[in-house]
Amino acid sequence: MSRHAKFLAALAALPLAWTFAHAEESALDAFTGLKMAGDWELVRNNCIACHSPKLITQQRGSKDQWLNMIRWMQEKQNLWQFEPETEARIIAYLAENYPPQADRRRAAIPPEMMPPNPYAPPTTRPD
Ligand code: HEC
Repeated sequence: MSRHAKFLAALAALPLAWTFAHAEESALDAFTGLKMAGDWELVRNNCIACHSPKLITQQRGSKDQWLNMIRWMQEKQNLWQFEPETEARIIAYLAENYPPQADRRRAAIPPEMMPPNPYAPPTTRPD
């Protein structure tokens, strides 16, 4: 094959390569937009009664971060308690399909690195 023909053959194979590369990605559920992988139905059944599923699909987090969000909702937003096994499966699904991303907003600045808050109530602590 001439170099030119080789180039054309490689070019012709590109859409095929693209198709294979993307076949790995899970299809999205038409109703919730959740990735239809693993335990996605558990998340659909437990997580969209109070708010849009977009709140979930636009969020990213590690297992710990997802757990913290769930605990916060349980404490402040009347989210019910889960069976430990159910909770573990929900968190595994979330951390696997919506993991932390490097290119998102930076993490919050740690409190000790923040400038003094001029509106903070006066402290009695001498400093
Ligand atoms: C009992 C009601 C309820 C259920 C069920 C519920 N949530 Fe929430 N969730 C809330 C409320 C209320 C908020 C705050 C909404 C707002 O800020 O507009 C919230 C906020 C969130 C947020 C945004 C948190 C942030 O830091 O911005 C995420 C992500 C989320 N929920 C995920 C989930 C997941 C995952 C589940 C299933 C395990 C779930 N929710 C089930 C009530 C619920």
